[in-house]
Amino acid sequence: MIDFIVNKQQCTKCGSCVADCTAMIIAMENGYPAIAAEKEATCYKCQHCLAVCPTGAISILGLRPTGSRPLAGGYPAPDKLEMLLKGRRSVRRYKDENLDPALLQHLLEVAWHAPSGMNTRQVQFTVVDDKDTMAELREEVMSGLTRMVRDNALPEGMGFYADFIMMWEKNRYDIIFRGAPHLLIASAPKSVASPLPDCLIALSYFELFAQANGVGTVWSGLAKAAINDLLPDIRKRLGIPDDHLIGYAMAFGRPAVHYARTTQHGPAIIHRAT
Ligand SMILES: Cc1cc2nc3c(=O)[nH]c(=O)nc-3n(C[C@H](O)[C@H](O)[C@H](O)COP(=O)(O)O)c2cc1C
Repeated sequence: MIDFIVNKQQCTKCGSCVADCTAMIIAMENGYPAIAAEKEATCYKCQHCLAVCPTGAISILGLRPTGSRPLAGGYPAPDKLEMLLKGRRSVRRYKDENLDPALLQHLLEVAWHAPSGMNTRQVQFTVVDDKDTMAELREEVMSGLTRMVRDNALPEGMGFYADFIMMWEKNRYDIIFRGAPHLLIASAPKSVASPLPDCLIALSYFELFAQANGVGTVWSGLAKAAINDLLPDIRKRLGIPDDHLIGYAMAFGRPAVHYARTTQHGPAIIHRAT
């Protein structure tokens, strides 16, 4: 039941919802948009009908247009967005403090607006909420890896973890999580249309919105491989479902570094197809 409701006082019969429907299941019926009962099952639940209606006449999935944010004039100026895109850095030094839980929740809720293949929206965010839990996870990962190094059990091509363990044992230098107080792992059921892109896009959304809020982030291939490939017991303990693909891991927290300017990458590698 998708609960497609048209407010006939507000509907101007403009047909925008009909034209924009992803599944092409909205049709004019007696002059007003409608979805035939037998077509409801093919709805993508993308909410384009609710979003596109100029007068806010359409509700769907129990969601009213008044619950949405009006878009008129609300986007950041391109120059500001460019500054964010170019100014975002991988942060590898963090303050030893927790993020405000309300801010963390907000970052996750906004990141969850990322697109996903066929709008499946099955990305799970596994989050380490506070620095004490993170310290325990860090210890657990480091001791798991230490055991593997001792037992000569690191798979071929992953011998470099031995150097990281040495750095950890010598001076508590954490190259895997970069000493961050929080960690985010995005995973999705392997059965959905595009689990890996879904996870990576969600993490990119998270990263950019986090950095716009003064929160540092770093993609951690090392954390992902440690948890996903080397220490499956930890993956299990963290509650990542067996049938999920881990897209990536991202460490984050308040940065202990301040960048004064953008970097200067380029020119972009652009191939113009003919
Ligand atoms: C898929 C991916 C994996 C990465 N893994 C790590 C990592 O394990 N540790 C780390 O310190 N940085 C990691 N990085 C960060 C890159 O090194 C970084 O993006 C690059 O050096 C450019 O720096 P910038 O992000 O500040 O522009 C990763 C980045 C990406 C996109």
